[in-house]
Amino acid sequence: MKFYCLTLFPEMVRNGMHTSITGRAMEKGLIELETVNIRDFTTNKHLKVDDYPYGGGAGLVMQAEPVYKAYESVCAKLTKKPRVVFLTPCGKTFHQKMAKELAQEEELIFLCGHYEGVDERVLEMIVTDNVSIGDYVLTGGELPAMVMMDCISRLVPGVLGNDVSADTESFQENLLEYPQYTRPEEFMGQKVPEVLLSGHHANVEKWRREQSLLRTAKYRPDLLEKAELCAKDLQFLQNNTCKQE
Ligand code: ADE
Repeated sequence: MKFYCLTLFPEMVRNGMHTSITGRAMEKGLIELETVNIRDFTTNKHLKVDDYPYGGGAGLVMQAEPVYKAYESVCAKLTKKPRVVFLTPCGKTFHQKMAKELAQEEELIFLCGHYEGVDERVLEMIVTDNVSIGDYVLTGGELPAMVMMDCISRLVPGVLGNDVSADTESFQENLLEYPQYTRPEEFMGQKVPEVLLSGHHANVEKWRREQSLLRTAKYRPDLLEKAELCAKDLQFLQNNTCKQE
């Protein structure tokens, strides 16, 4: 997987991605990141990349030309037309299934906007996917691009030391993950649930399933409707949750 990130703040993206698990994945060559500074593609002597919006209004708009040229500089290295993800609150909301689908690509371009937006003409020419990371507005696309790259990276084989963990986690089956505990057995008077110390594998599995169901019912009831639940799950939920009016 090779990520290209078109941005005015390449060091922000590099610093974030070269940390922790994604950083190690890059050292191992499992993923690659190339940041492209859009400002390097300006032709004016002040290296200006933005201008006032036609029609008036607050803020500045990123100009089409440097964005297009930055995009072209990446395309020149590729053999096929890449998917270009534009980070915008107006896009489709990012979710785990989208990450799984994007993880199948060999390369992805992320376009990070700043200021009040990017000239629509260049977006129409190059963007294949408009993606939002949630219903709130950030100052730029860099953090959303990093969120997406992080999420996609952990689906690349070998990135997580232990390959099963990408599969058993939250959202895999539209259920949230069960709670985890580690040593010591008692912390400030709080004990680890007894069943986890029992060594009884089937009971542990049953408890974890039930905890996932309870958590999902409590925090994300919308997910439960999409989850595949067996008769036992439904019975458990009926006995252990009270429906809110
Ligand atoms: N740019 C600004 N806010 C954003 C958001 N919520 N998602 C994606 N890109 C953004």
